[in-house]
Amino acid sequence: MTAGPPPGCPAHASPDGRLLPLSAATGCPDPQAVYRRLREEWGNVARVELEPGVPAWLVMGYQELLTITRQEQLFSRDARNWRDLAEGVVSPDSGLLPMMAWRANVIGADGTEHRRLRLPLVDGVRQIDQRQVRRLVQAQCAELIAGFTDRGRADLVTEYAQVVPLLAIGALFGLNTSEGHELLAALRALFGSADDSQAGNRQFEEILAAVLEERRATPSSDLTSAFLAHPDLRDDAEILQSMVVMISAGNETTTTWIAHTLRLMLTDQRFAGRLHGGRLGVDDALDEVLWRDPPMANMPARYALRDTELGGRRIRRGDVLILGLAAANDDPRIHRGDSFAEEVGNRAHLAFSAGPHVCPAQLPARLITRTAVETALRLLSDLRLTIPAEDVAWLPSPWTRCPASLPVTFSARLRPAPLAPAG
Ligand code: HEM
Repeated sequence: MTAGPPPGCPAHASPDGRLLPLSAATGCPDPQAVYRRLREEWGNVARVELEPGVPAWLVMGYQELLTITRQEQLFSRDARNWRDLAEGVVSPDSGLLPMMAWRANVIGADGTEHRRLRLPLVDGVRQIDQRQVRRLVQAQCAELIAGFTDRGRADLVTEYAQVVPLLAIGALFGLNTSEGHELLAALRALFGSADDSQAGNRQFEEILAAVLEERRATPSSDLTSAFLAHPDLRDDAEILQSMVVMISAGNETTTTWIAHTLRLMLTDQRFAGRLHGGRLGVDDALDEVLWRDPPMANMPARYALRDTELGGRRIRRGDVLILGLAAANDDPRIHRGDSFAEEVGNRAHLAFSAGPHVCPAQLPARLITRTAVETALRLLSDLRLTIPAEDVAWLPSPWTRCPASLPVTFSARLRPAPLAPAG
């Protein structure tokens, strides 16, 4: 039996016999405790609620997760197979749809159509010049830090972790830093208040369309040029859609990865001690974070194409299955004990999922996150969180568990050192 739930976590896996709302797990101080209780009650595949009246299967078993991600003939990525959506159980204005509605892009495709749309992303990522990207991201991080060094205090989420990824992914597509800031402002308007969200959307697409035109005239070594030259992308609409998919899939995930790493550095003495003492390289620290707190804690989704069985549960055609990546990392069949520290060097976690839709951008995601964390460590010394660790709040979401804020002070005010010359 597991111990009682920590304060703020639901006491029962299925409170009052009702299904557990997924966001109650992501939003509580110890989600793994909640997943363990859910596993005790349901086994590796649990019935949960995405929003009131909308059920889903949460797949928490490592092996079951590999099954649903690898067997696309049985478990589709295409949300048009979701019975509750087709039958109106999910309302057309549901907050679930921005993440889950079908779109004509790589994420919503299966089989050969998926492979056609994915190949340009994989080829594009393969040809990224890692040293150049690292230098660009270092400079962007140093500039952000220079903006708050004199203050001696900052919020490492809103002023850093939420800014670096979009600037960096923008740089992958050939946007300079000021265009990257414009893109960030447009994205914030798009997802912010309703008033300027349409303008934000327009501006977002205009910025990307402009860089597309520039690169058509003058090709470069960036991803925009790679997409333009790729024979599998049929027209500008597909190229733009591929750019949008990379930006939207990479932005919040990378933010969350950076934020969790900085949070652990600030709140977990063992983690910080190992990192500062040189016993844990930054890459090992990043992997420990992917085991403990994968940025996509719960990833939507797969849709059953036939009645079947999974983890002892009967799955009906049209049911939705959520990839419980955080829970699967803690599956007792692959991970024993309370600490993920012993997993150093082991990258068998499922933070990037598996199967044909496995994240194609692991390399740039790691490059950006590592550079952001290293640059913060290099330029800010004596970092201290100004609130108790247990007061760190989470941005509400059933999918991710990103710290809302990490207010810090730092006593040493190091000036960003000039970057090493290129080469
Ligand atoms: C530069 C940053 C990133 C970019 C551009 C990016 C891009 C993408 C794209 C395009 C897909 C869809 C692939 C497909 O459907 O074939 C994807 C899937 C995914 N990515 Fe990433 N990603 C980034 C960072 C991350 C990070 C930091 C994580 C978490 C550690 C992550 C986790 C995932 C997961 C879990 C999937 C879903 C796979 C599935 O549905 O099975 N990504 N990513």
